[in-house]
Amino acid sequence: MTKRHKTARVVSRTAKAWAGRFRERTNRLVEAFTSSLSFDRRLYAYDIEGSIAHCKTLERAGVLSHRETADIIRGLDKVRAELDAGRFPFASEDEDIHMAIERRLTELIGPVGGKLHTGRSRNDQVALDLRLYLRDALDSLLRGMRRLQQALLAKARDHLDVVMPGYTHLQRAQPVLFAHHLLAYIEMLERDKGRLQDGRARLDAMPLGSGALAGTNYPVDRAYTAKLLGFAGVTENSLDAVSDRDLVVEALAMLSILMMHLSRLSEELVLWSSQEFQFVELPDSFCTGSSMMPQKKNPDVPELVRGKTGRVYGHLLAVLTMLKGLPLSYNRDLQEDKEALFDALDTAAASVDVYAELIKGLAVNRDALAKAAGSGYLLATELADYLVTKGVPFRRAHETAGRIVRACLDRNRDLHELTLSDLRAFSDRFEKDVLDAVTVEGAIERKAQIGGTARKRVEARIKVLEKALAS
Ligand code: ARG
Repeated sequence: MTKRHKTARVVSRTAKAWAGRFRERTNRLVEAFTSSLSFDRRLYAYDIEGSIAHCKTLERAGVLSHRETADIIRGLDKVRAELDAGRFPFASEDEDIHMAIERRLTELIGPVGGKLHTGRSRNDQVALDLRLYLRDALDSLLRGMRRLQQALLAKARDHLDVVMPGYTHLQRAQPVLFAHHLLAYIEMLERDKGRLQDGRARLDAMPLGSGALAGTNYPVDRAYTAKLLGFAGVTENSLDAVSDRDLVVEALAMLSILMMHLSRLSEELVLWSSQEFQFVELPDSFCTGSSMMPQKKNPDVPELVRGKTGRVYGHLLAVLTMLKGLPLSYNRDLQEDKEALFDALDTAAASVDVYAELIKGLAVNRDALAKAAGSGYLLATELADYLVTKGVPFRRAHETAGRIVRACLDRNRDLHELTLSDLRAFSDRFEKDVLDAVTVEGAIERKAQIGGTARKRVEARIKVLEKALAS
């Protein structure tokens, strides 16, 4: 037996939709290697929705009769019911979800099922499915992000009186409101939502009618298909439409930035919940223990969100790399877009959802935060700014305050322990009012410009966000 004969025995039994031109059946290995069914089956509802719209468009163009259209749509509804119920009979020969649905349609309604693919290719079909899928996935992610923002906002509102040290270089820098710190993450998520909405607006063009690459011979009204599917318009170039994966790249980039933000929040939660900081306590139900050390309570959720960020970045790079050398138009390489996109969307959605709940249960250790805000020379800048109000140039004032801190460090004392006469030893511009001015509360209240941590500013921003997030 020749090698060729051996290979020929390892074949599938059912003929492919494209079998006409072939002398041999597909090798089993190739069948498994090229199949996308295991992951693109999640597109099925969108595929059927697109097929129904295509079918109606063909009827309108006079390509399908009313009877044929009705039969096909009824058949597609049956296929969808089977898929919904999990009793769709998948076959190993199904190359992808598009072929599986069409095969099943024809099994159910006979040869008329073969008319559905008139004037359509899997290339414009999968481009459509991706857009429909992504549109819904982004909308659902946007809702999840809003819930996370609402959780952060509620936590901020409930802790408006809590002061904490703000950091640069992870060194205590200046006191800020804990609420102000939480609101920083809400602002990041606002920008993330804006990016998602931008990307969603750009994918709002309907690609059917592009055919495999060149367009279609049939007089289809593409605007009608677009309207049926709720698209704002149609794609303008068939070659571009079947090979464009900008929407995938953009989605992955947007998700990468979102995950980067969540990862920074994660890092803070890990630090803050450590014995070293003890600023917050994560809910027990969101932590795990150690199999060996009985005392451990580990912040696994933030750690995993931080860890999963890397994998979303990886998907972005994988798709960019997959695309960079591709000639127009469709190439099978493009099938690699889906696992990356799906996994990144799943990962981001799961991270957002788990965080919305975790934040609700976050316990804030007011005393530890206040204690940390009251030490570490956080008021040194206030001291310098006080001297400025007495006419000292800021550079001089900065130097004087620095010498005061140095002296305190040498004597192991904190700033608030200094008396007026201690201060006057450094500058005769210090007067009695310095003791009232250079306080944590004063430091916070003086940051009164837009964007500052003064309580009335933070309260005003909370009000605006409350309104924006409620609608
Ligand atoms: N499964 C394919 C994909 O995801 C569908 C398009 C196949 N087109 C083709 N010409 N083989 O990209």
